Amino acid sequence: MDLSLDERRAGPGSDGRPFWLSPASYWLPAHLPVSAWLTHGPFASWLMDVLRPRRIVELGTHYGYSCFVFAEAIKRLGLDASVDAVDSWEGDDHAGHYGPEVFDYVRSVVESDYPAIVRLVRGWFSQARPVFEDASVNLLHIDGRHGYDDASADYTDWNSTVRAGGVILFHDIAERDSGFGVWRLWEELAEPGRSFAFHHGHGLGVLAVGEIACEPLRELFSADEDTAARIRADYERLGGTVLRQAWLESLPEDAERAWAEVRRRAVHEDELEAAIAALRTSTSWRVTAPLRRVGKLRPPRP
Ligand SMILES: C[S@@+](CC[C@H](N)C(=O)[O-])C[C@H]1O[C@@H](n2cnc3c(N)ncnc32)[C@H](O)[C@@H]1O
Repeated sequence: MDLSLDERRAGPGSDGRPFWLSPASYWLPAHLPVSAWLTHGPFASWLMDVLRPRRIVELGTHYGYSCFVFAEAIKRLGLDASVDAVDSWEGDDHAGHYGPEVFDYVRSVVESDYPAIVRLVRGWFSQARPVFEDASVNLLHIDGRHGYDDASADYTDWNSTVRAGGVILFHDIAERDSGFGVWRLWEELAEPGRSFAFHHGHGLGVLAVGEIACEPLRELFSADEDTAARIRADYERLGGTVLRQAWLESLPEDAERAWAEVRRRAVHEDELEAAIAALRTSTSWRVTAPLRRVGKLRPPRP
């Protein structure tokens, strides 16, 4: 039976929803900069909710999307926790090379919203590694260069920073284009009962370190095929709402006002779809058509 998210939330269970969803799964991110990680925000918020990490380290921050998702969850959940975001802020062949404006943007968001939560560590991963003690981290996010050798080196150098009960996230495990090799590293590391793989959003691998910290994670890692498929479908769909939101926010200002009204009124997905259809026939949609065409010519998100 194909139940909607709302029906499942109200379905049987100790608190009326399946173990892989919590209110955090439904949060919309506070910041939506350009990122190939956008659709993983809902799962990352859930993970923060169940894992309750005290120390998060991220290798590869770029415009800061994933870092801000972790930081926002710390704020909203009231956790006593911090995020160390490590990046050269110079870019690489996959993310593209970029100028100082990217770091300036990330720093401005951190200064305004997460000054006591996020520490920006500007430098190469190898330079930063000695600053972090072994077994001091609860959640490590590996999202630097995506070749097999690079990702393997990042894992080899940094996995000892994670303490038992912690989790390592790997982005891009589903990307098999030339130059991408995280999928191969993931095949080497993923173990039944200790890992979970999402296929959407270029793929996200979730790997347990040592003893599994909590029941929802134990259930996630030991989910049977049907349950795993439902988990993937739910998070792909929730990720889709983040994509839509990012797209709405990329619209020019006049269209954005109209969309704010759409969002205010739309409660259910089908209403949102109807509202989108209505807006598409509106004047502001026609006026902004050339901008959308230009948008399509831009390079894809990294
Ligand atoms: C894919 S982006 C990170 C995306 C980010 N997590 C997000 O949510 O959008 C990869 C980043 O890793 C950085 N990077 C890659 N290799 C690095 C290294 N060895 N040392 C420092 N930074 C590195 C690049 O500068 C780039 O900004």
